[in-house]
Amino acid sequence: MTLEEIITTRRSVRSYTDKPVGREAIVKLLDLARWAPCASECCRFVVVAEADGKALLAKAARQDFIATAPVIIVVGADTEAFAKKGSIWYRWDAYKFRGLFYIQDTAAAIQNLMLMATEMGLGTCWIGSFNEGDVAKAVGFPAGVRPVAMVPVGHPAKPPKKIGRRPLEEFVSWEKYAAAK
Ligand SMILES: Cc1cc2nc3c(=O)[nH]c(=O)nc-3n(C[C@H](O)[C@H](O)[C@H](O)COP(=O)(O)O)c2cc1C
Repeated sequence: MTLEEIITTRRSVRSYTDKPVGREAIVKLLDLARWAPCASECCRFVVVAEADGKALLAKAARQDFIATAPVIIVVGADTEAFAKKGSIWYRWDAYKFRGLFYIQDTAAAIQNLMLMATEMGLGTCWIGSFNEGDVAKAVGFPAGVRPVAMVPVGHPAKPPKKIGRRPLEEFVSWEKYAAAK
């Protein structure tokens, strides 16, 4: 698949077969995730495959389907990474904006991970709705590491529903482009 095909083929997958997802595949996804643009490499990943752990995460999200995936990757952000004295952002005072930085770092990593999964024939779904405290406790994140999202990973049980997007014009303003001519 070309990158364009991967991007347009990826869909949220919410039902999975029992086929396991091997450790090598997960390593591949995480390896590609860390190549995303990042302000401070603040991402933390916890791989959850045991049933009790998945059940806790599904409960924290009130979304039962995620426990049916062979693996759930919990993505956290070290919210203090930008504020550390050694960080270039600290020097520039830019660490003050870390609230947005860590969201961007983790989002870019998650997208890389999900696109790689698509290329590998794996199904994923971005899970952003959950009780943060419960998820942090379930995976043992220390204070300062904030759970941002969870990504169940599995083999799709059926082809995902085809959905589209609103027309491009609704997202874009060309006003300033025209003014530059
Ligand atoms: C920040 C964010 C949070 C999301 N949270 C959830 C969620 O909690 N549960 C869920 O089933 N899907 C969740 N999604 C997936 C979206 O519903 C889905 O991406 C959207 O409907 C577009 O469908 P597509 O992924 O198939 O293109 C989330 C997506 C994003 C980007």
